[in-house]
Amino acid sequence: MLKCIFNLQKNTVISGDFHDEKLSKFSYWKNRYKYRNKDVFEWFLEPGEIVEPILNNIAHIQAQHSVGKTNSFLRYIDIGCGLSDLSLHVLIHCPRPLSAAMVDFVSEALQYQNKRMQEYQQMVQLNSESTLHLICADVLCLPFRAGEFDVAIDKGTMDALLKDKGQGHFKSGLLMAEVTRLLSPGGRYLQISDEDPDSRLLFLESISNTKRAAWNCGKRVEETHEESMCGAAPDFHKLSSWNFKSIQLKFGSEYFLYWAERV
Ligand SMILES: C[S@@+](CC[C@H](N)C(=O)[O-])C[C@H]1O[C@@H](n2cnc3c(N)ncnc32)[C@H](O)[C@@H]1O
Repeated sequence: MLKCIFNLQKNTVISGDFHDEKLSKFSYWKNRYKYRNKDVFEWFLEPGEIVEPILNNIAHIQAQHSVGKTNSFLRYIDIGCGLSDLSLHVLIHCPRPLSAAMVDFVSEALQYQNKRMQEYQQMVQLNSESTLHLICADVLCLPFRAGEFDVAIDKGTMDALLKDKGQGHFKSGLLMAEVTRLLSPGGRYLQISDEDPDSRLLFLESISNTKRAAWNCGKRVEETHEESMCGAAPDFHKLSSWNFKSIQLKFGSEYFLYWAERV
């Protein structure tokens, strides 16, 4: 069996509390989507509360991306889409065509997204040039070539990985490396979390740009989901430092949009 080896510097930042470790397990999500949740479920933040700053980021990337190019398609990936409506909202509201991919390791989540997309198409006019691909894969080892995307959205997925007491930091490092690999230069990794910037920014910086000793994916990362293969060994790609924006809701709750750019 091929191996996924990753050198992560020992870091002292504690990010994510380990309460609810089940959230880091494939079996938990499979069970949840197969037998319990069958309808839209936002882990936190409704699409309307976050779509605008995401579209602003997309507009920024697009402005840089389209300089000197005739093709204005932006390639978008949702990492761990679950039953969230966020990416469908992005597709509806983005003024330019998107080539979008939604990924989750639970097939029922993708079946749901397919159904939801068809319902949306009956209600609203989607940009006829946009496309959506639903892909069942492990976000730690994605079946795409390096540089295939301009924007990656992670709403609560690194948060879920961080619930793993033993391997949460290690897996977050893998996710960071994988998203960085997928991004084109100038592309952005957008992460939405409830974790405070005091801890999350330090943590994100600490796992960004860590060196990989080797990158041979195909490893079975979780208990029962199918093996996924990522592309060929990447060059070593880098991210800029991380920024954030606070999203304040009524009744005092606060969430954060974090972003970094592929340099
Ligand atoms: C906290 S939920 C967030 C779902 C959605 N983004 C939202 O905002 O409601 C985390 C999602 O990531 C998916 N996930 C967790 N680990 C994954 C992995 N290694 N590969 C693919 N999907 C994963 C889970 O199935 C779940 O749908």
